[in-house]
Amino acid sequence: MCGIISYIGKSDALQVLIKGLKCLEYRGYDSAGIVIGDETHPFTIVKSVGRVELLAQKVAKIAIRGCVGIGHTRWATHGGVSEKNAHPHVSCDGRFILVHNGVIENSVGLKALLKEKGFTFYSDTDSEVLANLMAYHYGRLRELPTSQRFAESVRISLCEIQGTYGIAVICKDCPQELIGARKSSPLILGIHPDGFYLASDASAFAGQTKDVVFLSDNEMVHIHDHIYQVQDLSNGLINPTVETIDWDMNASDLGNYSHFMQKEIFEQDVALRNTILGRFSKDGSSAHLGGLQMTPQELRQIDRILLLGCGTASYACKVGEYLIEKYARIPVEVECASEFRYSNAPLDKNTLVFVVSQSGETLDTLGALHEARRKGFKSLAITNVVGSTVARESDGGVYQRSGPEIGVASTKAFTGQICVLAMIALYLGRMRDMSFSDGCEFVRALQALPDCVQKTLQGCESTMKTIAHKYASYKDFFFLGRQILYPIAMEGALKLKEVSYVHAEAYPSGELKHGPLALIDENVPTFVLASDPSMLQKNISSMMEIRARNGKVIAVATEGAHVPEKAYNDIVYIPSVYEAVLPIVTTLPLQLFAYYMALERNCDVDKPRNLAKSVTVE
Ligand code: AGP
Repeated sequence: MCGIISYIGKSDALQVLIKGLKCLEYRGYDSAGIVIGDETHPFTIVKSVGRVELLAQKVAKIAIRGCVGIGHTRWATHGGVSEKNAHPHVSCDGRFILVHNGVIENSVGLKALLKEKGFTFYSDTDSEVLANLMAYHYGRLRELPTSQRFAESVRISLCEIQGTYGIAVICKDCPQELIGARKSSPLILGIHPDGFYLASDASAFAGQTKDVVFLSDNEMVHIHDHIYQVQDLSNGLINPTVETIDWDMNASDLGNYSHFMQKEIFEQDVALRNTILGRFSKDGSSAHLGGLQMTPQELRQIDRILLLGCGTASYACKVGEYLIEKYARIPVEVECASEFRYSNAPLDKNTLVFVVSQSGETLDTLGALHEARRKGFKSLAITNVVGSTVARESDGGVYQRSGPEIGVASTKAFTGQICVLAMIALYLGRMRDMSFSDGCEFVRALQALPDCVQKTLQGCESTMKTIAHKYASYKDFFFLGRQILYPIAMEGALKLKEVSYVHAEAYPSGELKHGPLALIDENVPTFVLASDPSMLQKNISSMMEIRARNGKVIAVATEGAHVPEKAYNDIVYIPSVYEAVLPIVTTLPLQLFAYYMALERNCDVDKPRNLAKSVTVE
């Protein structure tokens, strides 16, 4: 979603900002802007609707220089997509220039108050209100020295707004200073001997420095005189922890691939190898997950598990529900994080909560985490991004180690989440009823998974490409799955919608005859996930029902399974695997189908319209 990169130091800010904005493109945005200047160069703002490349071309035509700057990619919330609404925003006296991620919920009231005091507005955004609020307080604080006056204006304004923010702000009266602050929207300070970076995502300054401070909610950083000071908005200066980030410098490099989605699909064997690395018990019968930070005794006392996530992560949770209930025999509930945060469902005392989030920054998932913790439940995280807000605000958890995921459509993060949940099922199962030999069989299946994933992708790529070519013009698809493969049907439908803009719906296979069958005809193809041997005959019945109504069937089945030819139009075979890893292997052809459908339909695979990688607004 919206991205921030800002810089203050000895280098030319322009190069830093354009490079940083390009790194943030994957998050999704619709317009971009920068402001650059310093004590010898006047601050100049340039904005552009559309891609960062357009902004770069625009900037190249004008002389814009300086060692201080802030840049932003905007994903419209308040006001349409236009240069007027793009960031940075400026107070009407021209003094404060800021970029803002998040939503200011009381902006309407504040705007009315400021208008009464003579402030004027040019945009439809809530962010411009914040710039003017800072200018208003600056006017009141004349007795303070300039630098302190700047910082106090920002601090008081932030205390008066309701909602969420990650901001970077410049005051023209202090041209060698920069302030940043956050509340429910990430902001990271990068520290380098020659300067400082402030970004919503550390990838925006990847390779520049490894030393970072992850600002916490209600914290503000003031960079001036070559130093930085962090303060809590209400409690004064604090001593922040400087952490070290390990950059994966290849993450933003496509290598031999055409798109990040393609790269990330084919990286899944490596990603899964990393997920399981060093995480099995010495006797080879269980998982070893120290990050949960709970003793075996505490884990045995758990009566219920609640899994929370959004979108693809919520489908991983649904798979986790089947796995934990089957192998650990603990009742599991799954709820969309966006629903849970406002619901008031009664929860058992001994409920353990897991929030699942690739980015670790999804606002709805964070809201659910806060709500679960507020109610006193132990809340753990499954996330891919080290140091993300979800990771820092949970009571412990498991990192996926899937590596940076750049494509907006989640692929390797989804299979990584399922893999972690499978390991949790194994770990909890071995503490309860699962036998030693069953545990060893589970471990062997997970150890064999990376090779199996590689083989499956190689084996089904050309088939899925051919099938995508054949069905590229169809406008509606069904995806059917039973039991542990029903969430995979949902994920297959979501992938297709996201990247190729084709309508797709998922149902449990048995539900077809309870309504959706009315829509089946020769124009509505159906994927039937028939790779679960225990459900094969039931799935063949569903296929026959569809074929009897002239519907087209694309079946996913395991090698060696006998599926009558009359039951399908097209079929893709995957290896026969242990049930706990079946959802991962069955997902692979569906990811490839979505990818090749997007190519057939000339869609922007890595940056689908209207979507953002990290959804940091409600
Ligand atoms: C996945 O393809 C989607 N882009 C989306 O559903 C995503 O999974 C969801 O927004 C949750 O993101 P998170 O895992 O970063 O929290």
